[in-house]
Amino acid sequence: MNEQASRLIELNKLAEFGKRYSASKIISVCSGKGGTGKTFFAANFAYQLSRLNKKVLLIDLDLNFSNLNILLNQTTTKTISTFFAQTETMEEIVSNYSNNLDLIFGDSGRSDYPRVSREILDYFFVMLGKIQDKYDYIILDSSAGADDLVLRQLLKSDYNLIVTSPEPTALMDAYVILKLLIENESKAERFVIVNKCSDTNEGENAFINLSTAVNHFLKEHLELLGIISYDSAAHKSIINQELLLNFDPQSIAADEILQFVKRFITITQLANNNQPG
Ligand SMILES: Nc1ncnc2c1ncn2[C@@H]1O[C@H](COP(=O)(O)OP(=O)(O)O)[C@@H](O)[C@H]1O
Ligand SMILES: [Mg+2]
Repeated sequence: MNEQASRLIELNKLAEFGKRYSASKIISVCSGKGGTGKTFFAANFAYQLSRLNKKVLLIDLDLNFSNLNILLNQTTTKTISTFFAQTETMEEIVSNYSNNLDLIFGDSGRSDYPRVSREILDYFFVMLGKIQDKYDYIILDSSAGADDLVLRQLLKSDYNLIVTSPEPTALMDAYVILKLLIENESKAERFVIVNKCSDTNEGENAFINLSTAVNHFLKEHLELLGIISYDSAAHKSIINQELLLNFDPQSIAADEILQFVKRFITITQLANNNQPG
């Protein structure tokens, strides 16, 4: 075994130990299908948590098309690729966005972008473990699809938030992700968000269809975190490169996100109170 591999194993052991005795807080936002609203949701969810006095780190882990920087209208030279290339440490690539909210940006479209291997992703999680005590929640925005790396990321997270929409294609892709997670014996808590709904009824029906299939074929219970309306204010906030919660805090979608951020805080606090140590 080479030196790097044995160091990784050692680091992994430390990370496992740390994870067992510190509060669960790593949240991956995923979907299967692209365009369901992962990035929109992850950014607004993170921001709302930070506004409720939680310390949050939001990381753009979409390794294909990272665009959190565009959504937030930020320019930075500090990106995750320098961490992956091991030229900068994780602490060095963290930017502060606002009170209680730190960010790590990705960067797509670079020809020198290092190919992320399983080992590099594992190293990323080990290093995340080392800074996790600074935060109440660490939110990872993911790539679409369910390739090996996305799946590995989801399996290593404490919570998986699956963002889908009422469209049958999005529901099918959410089902595929859930199937892969269950087949791989994922220990992460799973919650579904149905985004871009014409009304509550449409969202509920979509969730019932998905959970019935999961229940029937995969023998698992599925939990709904919330339904987000299709809201032109959400679309406009993205065009304006602003968070919806700043652009139009009175909008329907902003209020829906606020309600289930509060619910999520309660769920995670209850879960952490039941942990040993
Ligand atoms: N609740 C919503 N209401 C209206 N449009 C939305 C909503 N959520 C997302 N969108 C639209 O969907 C597009 C894709 O969202 P994005 O977060 O980039 O998806 P993903 O990260 O899953 O690929 C956005 O550009 C936005 O226009
Ligand atoms: Mg995205």
